[in-house]
Amino acid sequence: MSDAHSPARTPPREPIPRAPHQSGSFAEIQAHATSAPDEFWLHQAERIDWFTPPTCATPVQATEPGTDRGSWFADGTLNMSVNTLDRHVAAGRGDQPALISDSAMTGEQSVLSYAQLLERVRNFAGGLHELGVGVGDRVLIYLPMIPEAVVAMLACARIGAIHSVVFGGFAASELAVRINDATPSVIVTATGGLEPSRAVEYLPILHQAIALSTGSVRNVVVKDRPQLDGDITEYANGATAGGSVDVTWRDWEQLESAALPADAVEMRAQDPLYILYTSGTTGSPKGVVRDTGGYAVALEWAMSHIYGIDNQDTIFTASDVGWVVGHSFIVYGPLIAGAATVLYEGKPVGTPDAGTFWRLIEDYKVDVLYTAPTALRAIRREDPTLEELGKYDTSSLKAVYLAGERLDTETWHWANNGIHVPIIDHWWQTETGWPICANPRGVQQLPSKAGSTGVPMPGFLPRILDREGNDVTQPGTEGNIAIQLPLPPGTLIGLWGSTERFVSSYLAEFPGYYATGDAGYFDDDGYLFVMGRTDDVINVAGHRLSTGSLEEVLSQHPDVAECAVLGLHDELKGQRAAGFITMKHGHTRSESDLAIELVALVREVIGPVAAFRDVMVVERLPKTRSGKILRKTIRQIFDGEEVRIPPTIEDITVLDPLFVAAGRTPVR
Ligand code: COA
Ligand code: AMP
Repeated sequence: MSDAHSPARTPPREPIPRAPHQSGSFAEIQAHATSAPDEFWLHQAERIDWFTPPTCATPVQATEPGTDRGSWFADGTLNMSVNTLDRHVAAGRGDQPALISDSAMTGEQSVLSYAQLLERVRNFAGGLHELGVGVGDRVLIYLPMIPEAVVAMLACARIGAIHSVVFGGFAASELAVRINDATPSVIVTATGGLEPSRAVEYLPILHQAIALSTGSVRNVVVKDRPQLDGDITEYANGATAGGSVDVTWRDWEQLESAALPADAVEMRAQDPLYILYTSGTTGSPKGVVRDTGGYAVALEWAMSHIYGIDNQDTIFTASDVGWVVGHSFIVYGPLIAGAATVLYEGKPVGTPDAGTFWRLIEDYKVDVLYTAPTALRAIRREDPTLEELGKYDTSSLKAVYLAGERLDTETWHWANNGIHVPIIDHWWQTETGWPICANPRGVQQLPSKAGSTGVPMPGFLPRILDREGNDVTQPGTEGNIAIQLPLPPGTLIGLWGSTERFVSSYLAEFPGYYATGDAGYFDDDGYLFVMGRTDDVINVAGHRLSTGSLEEVLSQHPDVAECAVLGLHDELKGQRAAGFITMKHGHTRSESDLAIELVALVREVIGPVAAFRDVMVVERLPKTRSGKILRKTIRQIFDGEEVRIPPTIEDITVLDPLFVAAGRTPVR
């Protein structure tokens, strides 16, 4: 890859006159994107700073991801940190706030202007460079919600390194899986994160993860947080990668302050900006690879047209940098737009109360709040009449955006009636990088509908397909949601290390389409209703989990004969993972001891993020005659739904104890 890159240089620095946004209604914009995608996206690309502007937009061949034929803006070159930082400073807005950091856990608040953030990024990028990190090298970032997380991501982008951020709620072995897949030479971390119930010490987790990994890591850079006990000197001489080569543990401050500032490296549009792991149907997570040019253009479009955010605005996205929402709408999107972004360490409730989000809105004059439905449900549970809201001046707030899981209509109505700004549900995935369907409030506020995620965004052509792949798109017909290829800019260009898995996961099921894994239907007005997953992925508090990987963990236990994990309805978190277990003959533990051990095992292997607490031991699991466990039937029984018993069931009496446990009368 490196031969295509020039050494670091600075692009032309006069403020570039931006192409104006397209005028017209959303329908006109959408029609333009569909009828003339090349022209449409090249026009959008003029709002990005390029070293070499692209002359073509659309990929020639959508099924060759990450190649010249399968890339957006294939002949353009740019640098993402220039687009998020340098260009705003060059335009005379260096003093404007870029990164507002607020920790409800420590009480700390800080603001970095664009000029200050640029300086920190240049220095830390220089530090990474001194550790031998260059174009195409991977850097794993395991950091809590502190400014250093953003600095580290942008520093990687500056020198052409590919970052992979891992959420702090994963355990050592999950971290090791990601280290082995991405093979980073450097890990950037902190002494820990702060959760309401405890301080999460990162260093022992990392130490264990590195010991479990196959040995790519050479340096660990640690940001010391005074609230944590961790001390890198404990690890300085003890840690080994793969049991042989020494890993050097370094202090963040020393590295940042001693380094020579790094200039931005010229990257090709299709060069990977990051790898972000997400749950698939199997135990091994999928490393979604994002490009640089397409992502920059798409996020620039989304910030203004979907969120209505420009360079005078502030957005507060209450997520985590470990998720795609954090990548796109805490870090890259807001900074590309030249806006201020709020980085919040804390919860929607309990830190200290259900008024925290409203306090942040008042303190920072937030224009747009973006969060997960779970967070609103948590606030509603604590403060159903929104008394806390009345205590703050939230007059700056213009809209609330929700995504990550299905927004139930009750919560939608509650929020609409109580918050008095548009409540906008929108739908997308780690893979797509930005919303597939939304309400384009920035260009034209369309009427919102309870239960719907809005209308398709430019370049996304979602269709409803039946199981055989026939296009059955018509109002009211539910089926698999698949998106016609090519996908628009900003969407995944592949899975790290495996083109085959990319094709088999997303492109093979419905030739000519990207399979979203979601099911839903359109209504008469072209609004999409997303109803749930078609695969074994579940969504717990907006966090995507694979039931397959949970089953793999449970079956490791010596007393477990068989198991099935499924997502049951949860009032707060949308879904929760529940494990149904049969025990081996001659087992040594009681059922309750087994349940305790299994909960602990999942926490140890996957991490607290799985929030796994429900275990039920049964005599037998219901199965078809061919031996397939009837997961859907079990779920219907426990979710209180009408139970459709498949005619192929092996023994219907197996269902009786499940009905009883769910407090229902068995159905025959
Ligand atoms: N690092 C380490 N541990 C973490 C963590 C992190 N970054 N984030 C969560 N955890 C831990 C929690 O401490 C908790 O551990 P515990 O079992 O010891 O209590 C466990 O993971 C589950 O956490 P969480 O899902 O946050 O549940 P909760 O009961 O602590 O809080 C809510 C409930 C509703 C407040 C919380 O789920 C929430 O804020 N949801 C919104 C989620 C969201 O924004 N998702 C965005 C996806 S786009
Ligand atoms: P993630 O990749 O973690 O962002 O999870 C993406 C998945 O979350 C989607 O495939 C959907 O299953 C679900 N999802 C995201 N947003 C919504 C939404 N607005 N409504 C319903 N489901 C959603």
